[in-house]
Amino acid sequence: MDKLEYSHRRDRLMAAIGPNSVAIVAGAKELRRNGDTHFPFRQESDFFYLTGFAEPNAVLVLAPCAEKAEATIFLNPKDPSAEQWTGIRLGVDAAPERLGIDQAFDVASMDEELPKLIEGRRALHALFGFDGDFDQRIFSWINKVKSQRRPHPGEFVNLAQSLHELRVIKSPLEQDQMQRAADITAKAHIRAMTSCEPGKSEWNLEGELLAEFMTNGARFSAYPSIVASGENACIMHYIENDATLNDGDLVLIDAGCELDHYASDVTRTFPVNGKFSPEQHDLYQLCLEAQKAAIASVSPDRRFSDPHEAARRVLTQGLIDLDIIDCESVDDAIEAGKEKKFLVHRCSHWLGLDVHDVGMFEDNGKSRVLEPGMVLTVEPGIYIPSNEQMQEVASKWRGIGVRIEDDVLVTEDGNRVLSAKAPKELGDIESLMANGL
Ligand code: GLY
Ligand code: MN
Ligand code: MN
Repeated sequence: MDKLEYSHRRDRLMAAIGPNSVAIVAGAKELRRNGDTHFPFRQESDFFYLTGFAEPNAVLVLAPCAEKAEATIFLNPKDPSAEQWTGIRLGVDAAPERLGIDQAFDVASMDEELPKLIEGRRALHALFGFDGDFDQRIFSWINKVKSQRRPHPGEFVNLAQSLHELRVIKSPLEQDQMQRAADITAKAHIRAMTSCEPGKSEWNLEGELLAEFMTNGARFSAYPSIVASGENACIMHYIENDATLNDGDLVLIDAGCELDHYASDVTRTFPVNGKFSPEQHDLYQLCLEAQKAAIASVSPDRRFSDPHEAARRVLTQGLIDLDIIDCESVDDAIEAGKEKKFLVHRCSHWLGLDVHDVGMFEDNGKSRVLEPGMVLTVEPGIYIPSNEQMQEVASKWRGIGVRIEDDVLVTEDGNRVLSAKAPKELGDIESLMANGL
């Protein structure tokens, strides 16, 4: 993304925290996996949002209206022998121009330089409580200023309130990026559907998803892919993905790529053999109708909880109609909480740099009002595991789990389904699996 995008974000954050404040945001460190092997590096989303910089160990300081420099970055210095092993670094000299940041220092000089940046500021904003060691360091910098008998911040504010509210509304560039991520993910779901056959393993499909992500320029998944066949679909966070795909079962795939740090999050459920059984058909159709009703309730001035409520009513009515819930009316069923054991999760979360993206769900004790630029998932599910909780449900329904999940952008006049290219109509899935693309 253009470096101006990041400087606009920093400007908006500085306007939000006010002129007598200073904000400190740390980037991620490398994380050891085992032995001397590390996980692939992933920048902290908050830090990336404000810098677009994806090297480890960096720290950003924002001091609104400071005369010399409002934005300062601390980062790893150039070091040819280290770079020969772990890759090229941007370095201190090139950082200001490349990142559009006023000044840069070697991260090793932070204890020396950072106290000067907080001196004279009234309030210090940081993501407190996230990394205890870093919090301690912040207080050591304050103590240093204090010990020099200079004015130091006396008010400590959680930066999440201001920063995460900015992240909830996606800019046009972010919307484009998320559309691209969702397009790649849709292709991956199509690839999984067209390569699925009985006897393969869930892993095979996970491999197809990853191959499609990578082929299209998305190196990583936004979260571990769930490829859950048969009864496994009733386990919300199933990631073993090691079972054989059985003829006659459904397979639920919840997978999304991460494209330049932006997530997609899509679920499709389809028959391993390409043809829905009558019971699978009925539950799938019900879930789809609920999801459509939920998506129809995504628009400006509606509330975050509206899609959930819309889906809940359709699903509950459908479960009554299928004699899975024994009740006279939807209202009675919901009053008695009879739908709860089939609908075990909420229908939506924010989506952005994080798959479960930041931002409040409520405002003044009420579900918050949707605004253009917000992106949320809409993902109703019905789960009927073959366990003792479901004893009174006819056996033909047991062992089936269905979820359908799309990524939905709130627009001025309603919404746009970013993941619309992933097929979800029963007939479209069956014909894709029978005939290919
Ligand atoms: N894939 C995580 C979720 O759907 O929330
Ligand atoms: Mn998901
Ligand atoms: Mn989701």
